[in-house]
Amino acid sequence: MNNVLLQNLIELIARHTGLNIREQDKQALVNKVFARMQALKLNTPEQYYQLLDSNTKHSSIETPCDREWKALTILITTGESYFFRDKGQIALLKNRLLPEIIAQKKQLLSQPNVSKPSLRIWSAGCSTGEEVYSIAVVIKELIPDLHNWHILILGTDINLESIAKAQQGVYDSWSFRMVEPELIKRYFKTHQQSWEVIESIRSMVKFRASNLIKDNFPQPFVDLHSMDIIICRNVFIYFDFKAIATTLDKFYHTLNSRGYLITGHAELHGQNTGRLQTKVFPESLVYQREDLPIEKTIATEKLLTRAININQEQGTLVKLQKLLPKREILNSQPPSNVKLPANITKAEILFHQGDYTVAIQEAEQLIKQQPLHFNACYLLAQAWANLGKAEQATFYCEQAIEIDSLSTLPYYLLAHIAEEKGDISLAKKLFKKIIYLAPTSINAYLELGDIYQQEGDKSKAKKMRTTAWGLLKELPAHFLVEPSKNTVSELTVQVNKLLQNYL
Ligand SMILES: C[S@@+](CC[C@H](N)C(=O)[O-])C[C@H]1O[C@@H](n2cnc3c(N)ncnc32)[C@H](O)[C@@H]1O
Repeated sequence: MNNVLLQNLIELIARHTGLNIREQDKQALVNKVFARMQALKLNTPEQYYQLLDSNTKHSSIETPCDREWKALTILITTGESYFFRDKGQIALLKNRLLPEIIAQKKQLLSQPNVSKPSLRIWSAGCSTGEEVYSIAVVIKELIPDLHNWHILILGTDINLESIAKAQQGVYDSWSFRMVEPELIKRYFKTHQQSWEVIESIRSMVKFRASNLIKDNFPQPFVDLHSMDIIICRNVFIYFDFKAIATTLDKFYHTLNSRGYLITGHAELHGQNTGRLQTKVFPESLVYQREDLPIEKTIATEKLLTRAININQEQGTLVKLQKLLPKREILNSQPPSNVKLPANITKAEILFHQGDYTVAIQEAEQLIKQQPLHFNACYLLAQAWANLGKAEQATFYCEQAIEIDSLSTLPYYLLAHIAEEKGDISLAKKLFKKIIYLAPTSINAYLELGDIYQQEGDKSKAKKMRTTAWGLLKELPAHFLVEPSKNTVSELTVQVNKLLQNYL
């Protein structure tokens, strides 16, 4: 690979992942690129670069470019982790930071509409999950009445294989190199030659793939917001200066009032931490968001209580109670959305790698065991759509809608399939259905606007685009609009351009 191309590739990687490829790692990168070219049957590194750099319209259907980034990041990230990795920071969490936050949250209980206190912790760049489970153990020991709390302990990582391993929760002795045998006995059970996290700890945590650079947060519609603590350790050491600054800004907005950011020691040395204030403890430096007015904190807490209640009602009870009697075979099956089983992750990885046929086999196996598995049905729909099999894709979209009639994702996919078939009238109906289900569906307004414009109905097109603009105006620039995954600011630029045509 020539030097110019290699340099361009390194810059592209930095822009996409934040990773800084050092001089001594260049050859290893070249080897990895050649391995990927071979897997993809590409002849030249230029073609590979173009694939990674291809400008793709974001839609609910994943592009080859998105897939390749997922495959490449598995190869270029470093995922070293183990339980209770930094004893000092764990002690700081356990003895100072968490007790302080817990006491604050208990005080909020006197406010009307705050029925349960919440505690929200995010391990960003969690690798294979050891950090996340360590935090869960600490919290379990600190809060005896966990059932009286809304607890979120979320682990995210760019590396899909790491996330899959984290979800399995099975580790060998190397992950326990710093753990007292007593603690292992209490929170893990033997699993062949390894150790498996016990259910009461496992049920406290969640894992999700996320790219700190490309993804926007806070994200109000998923869990990435209102964090009491963000732990991002041993991630920034691999990032370039600009990527750290971008991530710090997003972390700031994702923290609650007086929320803490914990990084690895000296990882932010020489970096401008912006509005985050540095706090010095004997065990470690940490960074804290300022004290926001109490009304904001109460409003967040009330909102969280409401959101969690709605989720619980809609997500678990309504869906399952409505559907279970119809399907006798399900009687002995656990509800699919209580815990993400390992093989949906495997299916998702296969899907992201572009192995649609194998992903389909995996998801179909899962459907046999858990016919109400929304994610498996939707993945099947997407995989069949990507293979150009509209009939199968439609079938699984309909299954997914039967499982979760409130989700708009299958409707988006059905609408795109209809558009591809040239059935514009059906596509229009489906986008309208999405708006009916979720009146703030910005993407549906924009898609309808495009259709009306193509049909020459400028007045309706303008109406749709103006509505989208009005909705965008209400949201912060960072927010991610689903399912296209564009930011509010990106879409605002697009819509402003479109609306200029009507001046
Ligand atoms: C050394 S591990 C740290 C694991 C854990 N935090 C710890 O300290 O034990 C670094 C992790 O950062 C993840 N990572 C690197 N770039 C990322 C990005 N742009 N977004 C999310 N995670 C990223 C890697 O995949 C890797 O799992």
